[in-house]
Amino acid sequence: MARTLQAVRGMNDILPTESSAWQYLEDTLRDVVQAYGYREIRMPLVEKTELFKRSIGEVTDIVEKEMYTFDDRNGDSLTLRPEGTASCVRACMEQGLLHNQVQRLWYAGPMFRHERPQKGRYRQFHQVGVEAFGMGGPDIDAEMIFMTARMWERLGLKGAVLQINSLGTSAARAEYRTALVAWLRNHEAALDDDSRRRLESNPLRILDSKNPEMQSLIDAAPRLPDYLDEESRLHFSALCEMLDQAGLAYEVNPRLVRGLDYYSRTVFEWVTDQLGAQGTICAGGRYDGLVEQLGGKPTAAIGFALGLERLLALLEAGGVELPANAPHVYLVLNGEQGVQQGMVFAEKLRAALPGLRMLSNCGNGSFKSQFKRADKSGADYALVLGDDEAAKGVLLLKPLRNKAEQEVLSAEQVPARLGELLALT
Ligand code: HAM
Repeated sequence: MARTLQAVRGMNDILPTESSAWQYLEDTLRDVVQAYGYREIRMPLVEKTELFKRSIGEVTDIVEKEMYTFDDRNGDSLTLRPEGTASCVRACMEQGLLHNQVQRLWYAGPMFRHERPQKGRYRQFHQVGVEAFGMGGPDIDAEMIFMTARMWERLGLKGAVLQINSLGTSAARAEYRTALVAWLRNHEAALDDDSRRRLESNPLRILDSKNPEMQSLIDAAPRLPDYLDEESRLHFSALCEMLDQAGLAYEVNPRLVRGLDYYSRTVFEWVTDQLGAQGTICAGGRYDGLVEQLGGKPTAAIGFALGLERLLALLEAGGVELPANAPHVYLVLNGEQGVQQGMVFAEKLRAALPGLRMLSNCGNGSFKSQFKRADKSGADYALVLGDDEAAKGVLLLKPLRNKAEQEVLSAEQVPARLGELLALT
């Protein structure tokens, strides 16, 4: 027998038992971003490879080793998007959304990175991302961070810590980079292979190293905050002031540099120690230079993205109950008249109660087996129509989750009574 086909490693099915939690998460996040006036943009899943090389950076992990890149039938090099910011900027530039105007945008969907799969790290994963253009002050930085905190509040998510840092302007960072490389060269013997490789290409990422043997060296290295330009310093302290005023707790982490090259000034991450090694649930920052770098006019920009798989795992770890979207009603139909009248009645009921989730029993079965199915479906009520009821023009409404008495209702009474019981009107 042929071996059963399997999904690509690191790419998961989201099963019916899981999808209602996903929908709840997506609905809640959408409500929050829309409450702040952000509008949805939908971009293609595939872009020209050059876009990601020029925005994320040639010597980042993503571009060097994680992209799903292929030639299409015309010989063009295309890549499955590893993140949304580059596509969002490309779309805004191409469609003229950045001319003398501010934009507040969000998107959601799958992203693709050929990483080593483990808990919380997948090759196809899902982000909700937010990007704002045309606002250069610390107020929009604060808005972004407040919005993430509001998401956690709405979801009942606990245990995430906010870390922030400023990377300064690219000039300040270049000066820091020179100082850091000089210092690291003097300590080259203590560097691991990865760090030695990065010394030329991307020395700031050495600070991000997870190798415990590197930590004391990293702690002793020159610190980025000491090289910040005056304007970035003021911007950062104004942001901290707003967070303080709002009573939002944060840690300044001078080692936070982010893995993508486009950032400048404010960067932030929400991290947790409850998910093992993959503890960042949400991350972002300013990227004031990116639009210009891709050929547009200088445009202030900031954004973040959160990983839905990690967010769900953290909600589960915190014991947060997510709705299961079980049906309200299971329609038990028996006998020729019962089935015939029942299917017609079901349509009338659906028209009267648009919010009703009802499963009609199709395919017959004894009362006993239908009640078993009703119970398994998670429905709150069974609505029963057999030949006896059909002859009398009534239905039985039987509560499945409590000991309340069953009710005999005329077909006309059912919509109002169900609407009342389920608060659907
Ligand atoms: P990122 O840090 O690469 O930033 O990803 C953001 C979030 O996506 C991470 O914090 C994590 O929750 C989730 N994530 C990343 N890779 C994986 C993976 N392999 N498996 C599961 N979850 C993952 C960005 O993507 C930037 N575009 C964020 C941004 C928007 N910056 C400015 N605007």
